[in-house]
This record gives sequence, C-alpha cells and structure tokens, in this order.
Amino acid sequence: MTKPPEQVPPRFAFGANWQRYLASAYTPERADIAGKHLLGFLGLSRLDGMSFLDIGSGSGVHSLAAWQAGATTVASFDYDPQSVEATGSLRLLQGEPANWRVIQGSVLDEDFCATLGQFDIVYSWGVLHHTGDQWRGLANASARLKPDGRLYIALYASERHVNPSSEQCLEIKQRYNSAGWIGRRMMEAGYLWRNVCGCRWSNLIRLPIIARQYRQSRGMDLGTDMRDWLGGWPMEFSSMTEVVSHAVGLGLDLVNLAYGEGNTEFLFVRRSRAEALGFRRLPEEWGMPPVLTSLAELPDRPFFIFGTAAGAEMLARHQEAEKRPTLAGFIDLDRTGQWRGLPVLDAETFATQWPPETPVVLSTRFVLENATRLRQRGHTTIVNGQPLAITLYGQLPPETK
Ligand SMILES: C[S@@+](CC[C@H](N)C(=O)[O-])C[C@H]1O[C@@H](n2cnc3c(N)ncnc32)[C@H](O)[C@@H]1O
Repeated sequence: MTKPPEQVPPRFAFGANWQRYLASAYTPERADIAGKHLLGFLGLSRLDGMSFLDIGSGSGVHSLAAWQAGATTVASFDYDPQSVEATGSLRLLQGEPANWRVIQGSVLDEDFCATLGQFDIVYSWGVLHHTGDQWRGLANASARLKPDGRLYIALYASERHVNPSSEQCLEIKQRYNSAGWIGRRMMEAGYLWRNVCGCRWSNLIRLPIIARQYRQSRGMDLGTDMRDWLGGWPMEFSSMTEVVSHAVGLGLDLVNLAYGEGNTEFLFVRRSRAEALGFRRLPEEWGMPPVLTSLAELPDRPFFIFGTAAGAEMLARHQEAEKRPTLAGFIDLDRTGQWRGLPVLDAETFATQWPPETPVVLSTRFVLENATRLRQRGHTTIVNGQPLAITLYGQLPPETK
C-alpha cells in the first residue's frame, strides 16, 4: 500500500483527537447538525438511492449523517487506525448496519481506492491537504465518482490565511507537534485567547457560550478543531484558483463554493453534467475579477464599493474630492447603516435592491470569495479595486492614515 510520505515532524494523531471528540463532545444532535450541513451544500434533501464514500472519515459523524439521510451504501475509510476505530464505534452504535463499511486505507493508494468502487457522493472534508500529496489525493478521490456523481471536498485556502499567513501556520503546526505536554497546553491557551476570544476579556468570560455555539458548525467541537488546527500535520495550503484548475484538469466543473468553516468547501461534478444535475456551471465566470488599474476607471454610473476599511475609504475619498456623484454606497458583511453619508448594505440586501448590472468595486482582502458571493446573487460587473486602494493608502503621509 502507498503510504503518505514521511513527514518531519511526524504525523499528527488525528484519530486520537477524534476518539476524544466522541468520548467528550459527541451527541446525536451533532450528527443532525452535520447532516443538515452536508445536505445543504450538496443541494439535496435526502440521499435515498445514493452511495456515499467518506474519505478520511475521522470521527465518522458525517458518514453517520449520510447513512441517516438514507444513503443506500456508505463506505468510510481513513489512514489513521484510531480514526477507523472512531468511525467504527459510531457504526457499532447503529447496530453495525450491513450497508455501512469502515475500512483502513489511504486516499494516496490507487490500488486500494480502486477496490472501493464508484459512488454517487464522494466526500472528503478537511482531508486531502493532510495527506502529504493533495493533488494526487484529489485525482484518486475524483476517480471514485460515478458519471453523475458529486465530489464534495473542503481544503484550507491560502487566500483565507492572511494573519497568520499560510507559512506562519505551517511553522505553528511544526512547533505544536514538537512541543511537550505543557508546551501544547500553552499553545492551546494562546490560540483560544487570540483566535477565539480576539484578546478580549469579555469574550473569555463568554467562552462557554462561544463553545456551545460552535457545534452549529457541522456538529464539530471547538476544542477538537483547535487541536486539529494547531497540530494537523502534514499540511499543504493551496489557493482556490489552484484547486479549481486542478479539478478542471481532472474533467470536473465547479458547481458550488462556500466559506466560513475554516476550510473552503468545493462541490464538483463531471464536465458537462452540471445542468443535467440541476446546477449552474461556474469555473469561467468565477475566476478572479479584473483589476482596476487607475482611478479614472472607476465607473461613471452608480456603483458600490465592497468593503468599508482603509482601502474603501481611499476610493471613496477620491470620489468625494472629484465631486463625482456615482458612488451609490457600500457593501459590508459586518456592518450596515450609513457611512460617509451613503448606505452600507449587506450582500443580500444589495443584490435584492440593486439591478444585476450595478458595478461593484471590491476593496476587500477576500477578493474571490466576495466576488463569488455577488456572482451567486446574479451580479457579475465586478472589478478588483483592492490593489489600487492599497497603493493609494501606501502613498498617504503617515499622519493622515
Ligand atoms: C481534519 S480530519 C477530518 C475528518 C473528517 N473528514 C471531518 O470532516 O471531520 C482529517 C482526517 O484525514 C485523515 N487522513 C489523513 N491522511 C489520509 C490519507 N492519506 N488517506 C485517508 N485519510 C487520511 C486523518 O487521519 C484524519 O482523520
């Protein structure tokens, strides 16, 4: 069997972490939440009549959710024997159903994967980037798809890891895996303080509430995901564009994309099957929007700026100085109301109130993500104003920043 490449430091004990999740956090309610998330992204209400492959099943809670959603057969496998045991223990709780098998194996092993057959749903959430060779893992996963199958994967997208950067994340993971018991607990405390509480005492007091709310995220557990995030090794980062272009190279089309769960979620189907399956094909129109190269290119008809941070302010100030009345407002995910005398709308409200041809100038770090958000709502006249805004900001004298 092809093993994932040896790594330094050694592999993170994913399975032990999943066993701990089952022992201390798992409840049937979490499987229900996991099921809702799974079906919602797949665009299905049930999995009746469908076969389901869970690659890197971890705790097994998503295999269980698929089985409960009516999948005709479920095959779960994981490289880590303790993850296999964890998934097996959830299967045991259901009375060891004959239509759910749990196997040990690696997604990097073509021969092993070929023995599994082909599936209507191939699911691999948060796994391929932990194999040591994610593109090979992606190719092997996609080979398990039936002609009308759906491939649902989730990967760490480098665009989302700005602070800390993907390089810093890799360094943190190496330190965590090399640390002793005390060192790890200290890193966990630091993670909670910075990443979960945002260095605010008020949030530290609310930590039990935050942890309770966290289960709504796929039925997962804050402590388990924190250890997985700090330790998960091996680890590779890739940009969303790289993921999509590798998948396109494998004959797949992107039909859904989502963010917000730490990982970026992608749904692919085989080329030209998108419409037959009731999806809109996305890749070409979902690339990076064109870059605005000069202020003269700002739209001369009513337009919105996506963002209300320093870059957006630069572009808005220019409009004000030029007395150009074309800036109609801002789009922001975290605030609404008024800013600089103009309305600030969330993406949904903007899309319902303004016609699809309204131009949007992005001034946000997550360019592809927010462009996608608008495109999902029918708005396609989008330009990336962020590089220009950053340049303008850099030219300001320090005292005016
Ligand atoms: C972050 S966990 C995700 C678990 C689960 N998919 C979920 O969403 O909760 C990653 C899992 O991938 C498994 N894994 C890593 N390398 C693998 C490989 N080459 N083949 C199969 N599973 C692998 C790990 O053992 C671990 O259980």
